[in-house]
Amino acid sequence: MSAQQSSFASTIDSLRERVPEGLIHPKVGIVCGSGLSTLGSTLRDRVLVDYDTLPGFAKSTVAGHKSQLAFGYLGPEDKGVPVVAMLGRFHPYEGHTMASVVYPIRVMAKLGVTHIIITNAAGGLNPNLAVGTIVVIQDHIALPNLTGFNPLIGAQTDLSLPRFLPLSNAYSRPLRKLVFHAAHQLGLEKSALAEGTYAWVSGPTYETPAEGRFLRAAGGDVVGMSTIPEVLAAREMGVEVTVLSLVTNAVVIPDTYNSIREEVEAELAGKPLPAAVDAIVSHEEVLTIGKQKAEVMRQLVEKTVELIGSA
Ligand code: HPA
Repeated sequence: MSAQQSSFASTIDSLRERVPEGLIHPKVGIVCGSGLSTLGSTLRDRVLVDYDTLPGFAKSTVAGHKSQLAFGYLGPEDKGVPVVAMLGRFHPYEGHTMASVVYPIRVMAKLGVTHIIITNAAGGLNPNLAVGTIVVIQDHIALPNLTGFNPLIGAQTDLSLPRFLPLSNAYSRPLRKLVFHAAHQLGLEKSALAEGTYAWVSGPTYETPAEGRFLRAAGGDVVGMSTIPEVLAAREMGVEVTVLSLVTNAVVIPDTYNSIREEVEAELAGKPLPAAVDAIVSHEEVLTIGKQKAEVMRQLVEKTVELIGSA
């Protein structure tokens, strides 16, 4: 057995000691992003496992992110779907290796999940996306993947997995359909849910205005610092994936004017221009919007799980 395989075996042994038989093979995996972990509280027969008590797991270090796996049932009592939710995730910008970032996803797949629903907080690149909109991701642009930092780079330790993974079908159409059916059943307004492309950046800095315009011009609708490694690992292991991004802030704002020369010339001519306002995003703002919309996200995820269970 390779070192990696024995690490997975000890993680799963440790989970077996704590999670009852009915929950140890969940059907759906869920990843909860910034401020979106309230889902953990609505699981029935919930069992919480701290990451730092699990062999093989790293420790999450971002404020606003918890660090637990939550096992439990979602949906109606008679048709409860066993799920495992990550309350808090690992990001490459924390200094974690890509292998650590995707480790929990691989564990979920090894436990037998067939579907993973990934949530995240993201910046809006598309000016039509209001803050608070949930975007069902249909595609991605991952500059790190294109420039030598693909999370799947490395010797193949499991020869049963594909070496050259296609990504044209990364975002499951049937699952995206279920999300829209779920939104309909919940009576969400049309504007609450959009579709779009996720641009992945490494962070931890937010984008400059020019970087925001660049990613928008490249076709991104939202931008974020997570998710794509998780999508790749899940797809590599044959799991169906859907991603829901909550727009927490606008990255590309309409230019007022950028020219300091114009501003100074206007001042000298005694006709000062209105001062341009810099839009400065903060992690607190991201968490606040996350908290405000956590309930809608929770309902949407829960209803989607229910539909997966009865599909
Ligand atoms: N950029 C990158 N990641 C983010 C942002 C952003 O503006 N907002 C929330 N996550």
